[in-house]
Amino acid sequence: MLFEKETYVRRRQTLRERVGEGIVLLFGNNDSPANYPSNVYKFRQDSTFLYYFGLHRDGLVGVLDADSGEEWLLGDDIDMDDIVWYGQVESVAAMAQACGVGKSAPLSRLSDIVSAARQHGRTVHFLPPYRHEQMIHLMDLTGLHPSQQREGASVALIKAIVDQRAVKSAAEVAEIERACVIGYEMHTTAQRLCQPGVSEQYIAGVIEGIAYSKGCMPSFPSIVTMHGEIMHGNPSPRPLEEGRLLLCDAGAETNENYCSDHTRTTPVSGRFTQRQREIYQIVEDCHDYALTLARPGVKWWDVHFGICRRMTEQLKELGLMKGDTDAAVEAGAHAMFMPHGLGHMMGMDVHDMEGLGQTYVGFDEEVRPRLDQFGTNCLRMGRRLQEGFVMSDEPGIYFIPALIDEWRAKGHCAEFLNFDLLETYKDFGGIRIEDDLLITSDGCRFLGEQRIPYHIDEIENR
Ligand code: GLY
Ligand code: MN
Repeated sequence: MLFEKETYVRRRQTLRERVGEGIVLLFGNNDSPANYPSNVYKFRQDSTFLYYFGLHRDGLVGVLDADSGEEWLLGDDIDMDDIVWYGQVESVAAMAQACGVGKSAPLSRLSDIVSAARQHGRTVHFLPPYRHEQMIHLMDLTGLHPSQQREGASVALIKAIVDQRAVKSAAEVAEIERACVIGYEMHTTAQRLCQPGVSEQYIAGVIEGIAYSKGCMPSFPSIVTMHGEIMHGNPSPRPLEEGRLLLCDAGAETNENYCSDHTRTTPVSGRFTQRQREIYQIVEDCHDYALTLARPGVKWWDVHFGICRRMTEQLKELGLMKGDTDAAVEAGAHAMFMPHGLGHMMGMDVHDMEGLGQTYVGFDEEVRPRLDQFGTNCLRMGRRLQEGFVMSDEPGIYFIPALIDEWRAKGHCAEFLNFDLLETYKDFGGIRIEDDLLITSDGCRFLGEQRIPYHIDEIENR
């Protein structure tokens, strides 16, 4: 466990108090089969379960009684067959004791606990499930079909958890910095390997191997591609080509499941062309500009749109955009180039708590998501920043041929875009620069010991 028992005890106590009444179900994850039942993906515990219990074993469920304060850890002790194949592990009772939970029982007790609560008309709080076996388990317990479970999840529980997990303690920040240090090694290795003839998949394999060789893993499938204009492009077996850009978006997740997330874009030939340099400088400037805006009390929405306006100004200088900057951004014209938000919350999930619902993680009563506009509709964050939030800062400029064609055909935002010039950028790809930002008491700072090179002269003289 990453923290002392008392940390988990305190976190659960706070959660019970904030939820106020009823029982709270917190599901751990199970092993997940890849191609037959006993051939499983690497086990990944649920982040919320880890946050409150710190236990990495599969097949556990935590139950908190918000009225009485009682707590259970439910799970089945392993049998001799498991011991023979997988080795001895601690008993469920010992695990409960290790994280300060008073009661333990076999998993079959869960249905009795839930039935009793329902018979007494008590609220059964649960989170939106994202794994199918949990959906089935939840259906057995509550009668709710999986299609109704996201809607039926407890908003009070989600909000209480988001409040706790969003603000990172110094120890959590230290763990994210450990992930950033591994990310540094991954990205500087990718930059070194970025040479004509080397394949995208080779680079992805080597850098993910760095994470695994430290007992860690990638925080998401690495994006290593000459087609940077595809936001989550998979690495292909294609060899890198002279003159193109390689976009590498990758991160590490420590053994205790805290994540880093960085992106660098490197010219395969070692030097940027004039056109690449012009676009790169805009992204670099926007990336650094975020640092001057982000601080406690500021809405991330305003940081995002501050950057969109700055990007628009500079794209106008290149002749790619035109017209009034504020009007262009209001119309969403900048989303032709940056169709995503400036950043997302980070923590134990690389998109922290995304499974709980972005509306609750990144928005609130004051800042609501805007779903009617392309680009703005996929912002993952808008609300005011607080000290202890960790955010990614990841502006990008992309040239997406299909999007150019569609907007041109519809005349969408035609008063703000120079479609003839855009046409000549269709083979450009995309550029993104990403680092991880801690909101401090009076501003913010990048996380990690050393900055992964991103200034043009550092990249060209690598
Ligand atoms: N680094 C991948 C993403 O933020 O979506
Ligand atoms: Mn990211």
